[in-house]
Parts: sequence; structure tokens; C-alpha cells
Amino acid sequence: MKATAKAHTNIALIKYWGKRDESLILPMNSSLSVTLDTFYTVTTVEFNEKLTEDVFFLNGEKADHTDTERVSNYLRAIRKFAKKHLFAVVRSENHVPTAAGFASSASGYAALAAAATKAIGLNLHPQELSQFARLGSGSACRSIYGGFVEWQKGVKEDGSDSFAVPILHEDDFPIAVLSVMVATNRKKVLSRAGMKRTVETSPFYQGWLDTVEHDLSELKHALELRDFTLLGEIAERNALKMHATTLGANPPFYYWQSATMEVMEAVQNMRSQGIEAYFTMDAGPNVKVLCLPEDEQKVYDQLKQIPSVKKIFTCHPGPGVTILPTGEADV
Ligand code: DP6
Repeated sequence: MKATAKAHTNIALIKYWGKRDESLILPMNSSLSVTLDTFYTVTTVEFNEKLTEDVFFLNGEKADHTDTERVSNYLRAIRKFAKKHLFAVVRSENHVPTAAGFASSASGYAALAAAATKAIGLNLHPQELSQFARLGSGSACRSIYGGFVEWQKGVKEDGSDSFAVPILHEDDFPIAVLSVMVATNRKKVLSRAGMKRTVETSPFYQGWLDTVEHDLSELKHALELRDFTLLGEIAERNALKMHATTLGANPPFYYWQSATMEVMEAVQNMRSQGIEAYFTMDAGPNVKVLCLPEDEQKVYDQLKQIPSVKKIFTCHPGPGVTILPTGEADV
């Protein structure tokens, strides 16, 4: 009753922003992301009849009460579905620089869903696995697949039609994503709280809903054509629109810092020099810069010159979740 899984993070090109159901994690809009090769989580789950509660180790250390409770609540859904009431030891190794402000919930819950369902004896179709990952964190449902992935929001109340589907394999459209870590000094509003506040209070949220499905179909068209310019333009515009909704919330908030804007400006300057680069940001101050692989060194060199840029990680489209043979847990 033990299994190990490895899952990668993803960056949304069309953002998931807002829930229509908080407990089932059903989104207001469909979204589309690219799974990244550089950052991942490896998780081992072992169910054991001798245990009287779930135990969670994160990067080799026993996790605090809050983190353990979130994992335990999550496992409850899997136990219920499998009709096996056993507790588990969960060991997660995050190869995501979380301290640097890069989110790990997508890779974390995708790996946990895969390892836990396998360990408890369920052999799920990736579509069902995506639904289980979604229950942990919305964006995790997209990390089940590699490459470019759409999360179809679905319309059913029980969430049975809200899951990710693969759009393009990671080898079919080589792009580069430079993860730019900036100097950060403020505690951010977590994405879960931020999107809730925006849905409930921002008058700009309706504008988001009115246009996001159109952005998504245009982006899918760009992928079909392998049109990088179109992809970059749509992704940048969609990110700016998502961030704009937070300014209308009550109380208002924003994820950017001055360093975030310096990177955004540098990217736009590169474009005026003829280098094709575009930016996108999730619920934090770090920036992801999209470019073509042949430009990645040039873009890297220019970004490196910005004093507030601390570190740059070069990423490419990466694979979906995999079950590792036990024993490879510390990859
Ligand atoms: C801005 O998936 O972290 O990164 O479902 O509440 O766990 P929960 O939220 P999460 O939100 C991600 C929001 C985003 C956009 C995206 O990844 O699509």
C-alpha cells in the first residue's frame, strides 16, 4: 500500500481566477497552462493499518499542524472513494524554490493525488486523477499532463466534468519560460483568498468573465498554428487582465512589487528591440518570461542586468505526472 509519484509545476497562460464552488474547487472559467520541466515534487504515500492518524513530512521534516491538516483532509476524500479507512505516512520532497516565492501547490497536489490513489489500490484514468488533484488545489489538475494543458471548467454541480485535458505534447511546441525571481519584501495575499475576495467584491471581475473564454479559444488557435507571437500577446494580455481585477477588490490588493514592474518593462523594451519576449505572473511578485528557445540566452542576459532580479531559472515544457518505482523516492 505504498506508491511514489513525481509531478511538475505549471504556469497558466490563461489564468484560473475565481471559484464557483469553494469545497469542490470548481472554477468560474476554463484555463490553460504549460507544465514546466525544472520544478517538481516527489511524494511517497504509505497507508498502514497500525497508524491512528495521518503523518506528513515535508522536505524531510515533520510538517506543522496546518499543513498536516490540509493533507489529511485531502486524504479523507480518497479514503471515502476507495472505501478503505486507513491512515497514511506522506513524504514530500519539493524541488521548487518555495522560499523564493514559487508556488508548489500544483506539483504538490498532483503528486499527492497520484501517489495516494495508487497506494490505496485505485487505478484511475488520468481524467479521474485530474479531478482528484483538483480537489487539493485547482491548478494541480493541469499538472497531471505534460506540455500545454486545458482545464475545462465543466458545468455539472458535482464537478464530474471539471478536469484537465492535454492540448499539445511537451515536444510539439518548444518554447522557453524564464522564471524570474525578484527581491520580495511583502507577504502576499494567497491565491485562494485573493481570488475569493476578487469574485465577491471587484466590479472588474465581470469584465474578466466576459472575455476570458475568448482569450482561451484564441490561445488554442495560436497553439494549433504554433504561432509564438500570438501566444505571447494573448498570455501577457490575459495576465494583466487578471491582475487588474485585484485592484477593484475591496480591500484592494496587488501582487506586483516595483521589481516586478521593472521586469515587465524590460520585456516590453526587448520587444521594441525586436526580441520576442512576453511576461506572465501568478499570485505573487515573480515573473515568468516567455520566449523562443533561440532567444533564451539573449533574454536571460538582459534580465540578469536588472539589479532587483535575484535569480533566473530556465524552464521548458515538461512531462505529466509519473509513478516512480518505490526506492526512487529521493530523486
Ligand atoms: C493565479 O490553484 O493555487 O496561479 O485552487 O485555491 O488552491 P486553489 O488555487 P491555486 O490558484 C492558482 C491561481 C493562479 C492562476 C493559475 O494557475 O491558473
